[in-house]
Amino acid sequence: MGMDREHEGRIAVVTGGGRGFGKAFGHALAARGAHVVLADIEPAVGEEAAAEIRAAGGSASAFPVDVADELQAEALVADTVAKHGGIDIFINNAGLHSAAFNHPTSTLGVAKLRRLMDVNVMGTIICTMAAAPAMKGRKGAAIMNISSMAAYGCGTAYGVSKLAVQGITMMSARELGPDGIRVNAIAPGLIFTETIRAELPPAVVEMVKGTQLINREGEEPDIVEMMLFLCSDRSSFITGETYRVSGGATLQI
Ligand SMILES: NC(=O)c1ccc[n+]([C@@H]2O[C@H](COP(=O)([O-])OP(=O)(O)OC[C@H]3O[C@@H](n4cnc5c(N)ncnc54)[C@H](O)[C@@H]3O)[C@@H](O)[C@H]2O)c1
Repeated sequence: MGMDREHEGRIAVVTGGGRGFGKAFGHALAARGAHVVLADIEPAVGEEAAAEIRAAGGSASAFPVDVADELQAEALVADTVAKHGGIDIFINNAGLHSAAFNHPTSTLGVAKLRRLMDVNVMGTIICTMAAAPAMKGRKGAAIMNISSMAAYGCGTAYGVSKLAVQGITMMSARELGPDGIRVNAIAPGLIFTETIRAELPPAVVEMVKGTQLINREGEEPDIVEMMLFLCSDRSSFITGETYRVSGGATLQI
């Protein structure tokens, strides 16, 4: 089979699938033959993204979920299994990283800190626990997590949450390897999604770009390429790893 339809017939679930990376992952997997379930906390945004993929000729549906809530994560998996028989690819992409969460712990406050950890850390563990039984023994089963370049300096609680994602990736790879499920992660640098473009102050953008070794803006396709590789049989001997896609910026931290 050519790479153009390498996910034919597979069932893929993408959390935070309504926008940004999640939506881009959905488009790319559907274009290669997968049915994609976009699981977003904002139902209308998920539905809209699924309709966009269908309009482009792909197969997609939406399911509302808060990844930090185990009952909702279990409902997402149960609904997907009932409709499609199982899950081949699960992408833990939902994460809080907006300007509202990118502050020192002293100004962030405990309530926001707890929510940040609940979504970025517990959400990744909860969804992995929920999805694993539906993926066990399926050929090419792959889970992908999203860390960040912020994990390398840990200058903020966000960075700490994303370092935890790297640890979860190793833990899950060990726990789920015997079930034939590979688990890997991507640590993106600064990537110009809509949210980043709208929220990040120009001074921060310039500062981060100044640390890159490749002098251009990081874009969604840069992350999509790595996702396609890590979720395909082309990476069948790789598990427990986090790959940096940052234009070299992570080397400077
Ligand atoms: N854009 C970047 O430069 C960058 C860099 C490093 C890491 N990341 C990580 O990549 C992931 C996606 O980033 P993005 O830029 O596409 O984000 P985004 O904010 O544009 O989109 C995130 C989506 O997740 C959904 N979401 C938020 N909380 C949720 C929850 N509890 N349950 C389910 N869905 C939820 C939102 O509704 C939104 O649709 C995040 O984990 C982020 O931390 C992004």
